[in-house]
Amino acid sequence: MKTYYITTPIYYLNGDPHIGHTYTTVAADAMSRYKKQRGYDVKFLTGCDEHGQKVERAAAEAGVSPQEFVDGLAEIFKDLWKLMNCEYDFYQRTTNPQHCDSVKQIFKKLYDKGDIYKGSYEGLYCTPCETFYNPRDLNEGNCPECNRKVETISEECYFFRMGKYQDALMKHYDENPEFLMPLSRRNEMLNNFIKPGLDDLCVSRTSFKWGVPVDFDPGHVIYVWIDALPNYATALGLYSDDDSLYKKYWPADLHLMAKEIVRFHSIIWPCILLALDEPLPKQVFGHGWLQYEGQKMGKSLGNAICPKSLVSEYGVDAIRYFLMREFTFGPDGNFTQSALINRYNADLANDLGNLLSRTVGMVEKYFGGTLPALDPAPSPFDADLMGLATSMLEKVEARMDKLAFSEALNEIWNVVRRANKYIDETAPWVLAKDETKKAELATVLYNLAETLRIVSIAIYPVMPNTPAIIHEQLNINANTDWESAKEFNLLPRKVVVTKGSPAFPRIEKSK
Ligand code: MSP
Repeated sequence: MKTYYITTPIYYLNGDPHIGHTYTTVAADAMSRYKKQRGYDVKFLTGCDEHGQKVERAAAEAGVSPQEFVDGLAEIFKDLWKLMNCEYDFYQRTTNPQHCDSVKQIFKKLYDKGDIYKGSYEGLYCTPCETFYNPRDLNEGNCPECNRKVETISEECYFFRMGKYQDALMKHYDENPEFLMPLSRRNEMLNNFIKPGLDDLCVSRTSFKWGVPVDFDPGHVIYVWIDALPNYATALGLYSDDDSLYKKYWPADLHLMAKEIVRFHSIIWPCILLALDEPLPKQVFGHGWLQYEGQKMGKSLGNAICPKSLVSEYGVDAIRYFLMREFTFGPDGNFTQSALINRYNADLANDLGNLLSRTVGMVEKYFGGTLPALDPAPSPFDADLMGLATSMLEKVEARMDKLAFSEALNEIWNVVRRANKYIDETAPWVLAKDETKKAELATVLYNLAETLRIVSIAIYPVMPNTPAIIHEQLNINANTDWESAKEFNLLPRKVVVTKGSPAFPRIEKSK
């Protein structure tokens, strides 16, 4: 069986998760479910990044130890993933002792090899962002990320010889055109960072304690690059007593994240792996930022949207659908409440919800809830609907394989909308008036049920709860086997329906 290993970033634990974190994790979950449906042996990793000065400070402000602080937040993130129906296989925490131990070994190995050396560093540092900046990257003297004042700091630290791996990294980019996607980010990394030359990187700190100590120089704490990035490999057991998962699932097929950490994942992490003589991930994909009503969203900016309240208002599948359908995966997207309501009402309440309730309602009304197993009596509109439904999955595959979630969903909705149009074309309410058209009427309703079965399979990666609602109302096998959605007429002719409450009740705009 082919393996597929997908990861989200490990999120910083210095505040509650918001819809931006949810965006990445839902995308990873959708991809993971899709690959499972396609027969892959999938592993999905998420987790949290728990060390560093920000956590140390936030814990001090909260009056608890850093460990207590991160233990509490790690649970809050986990609860959110449960709520969002994100089914990860591994949850890596950088305070996990096995991870810490592996990180120490990685640091030592690089040191012994001469790829890490001791030096001193003077630079412009933004404490809240824990980042040194090049003067040219500053925003009128302030941090380009949070716009706060930066300070000049001098510190003894260990450096990683990144420059040594520049040629090997360039070669990897040349040989693997899809290593970093979308292409705009690849070009940006190549032209702005890799080609101009890679500077050695400061990989330890003495200014805080909360981190993995350098065991041969305990005043130093291993900085985020060598602590956090290797989590993707330590979660599988790299540099532990049991690396069988690592041998089976590494290299990762996909590291998913937003654009601001692409540079770390597409330059620093590959250089660390090259230095360790380990294979590089197959792909790094940096999507855009979700903004809120046109503004950057973030914990520190105080405008972060809470996914929990959205879910309680709209339901989890609706929010997952909205995130994956509304925004093209790659560029930035603007989250607005009105876009959410419009999308919900148009695609879910009207298109999909109505298709289901109309189909079930008509089987009840015209056949007392049970479609008779008559020989099909085709109508002139069948071929078009069937053709579109059975050719849909190949188009969905092509989109999903490129992480074009929105386009994939649009392909599915073309079929949903086509089926609603089919109802208008075949006019079952007219057929119902003519006793001789009984078989034709049954065929029309069967074709709708069959289309819904096919749609239920295709929506599963993004909307994992909705197929069960469809299956229950049509009393059909809870089967989401991908290949079975490429064929029409698989459902037994006798369909027994059970009316349920609307899957997606309309939302009034005033909300
Ligand atoms: N801890 C680092 C990552 C280390 S990975 C080895 C980190 N953590 S974070 O908590 O800041 O998470 C950043 C990630 O959260 C982004 O790359 C993205 O995946 C997600 N997002 C957070 N805010 C987001 C938006 N507003 N929009 C889209 N994604 C966002 O960086």
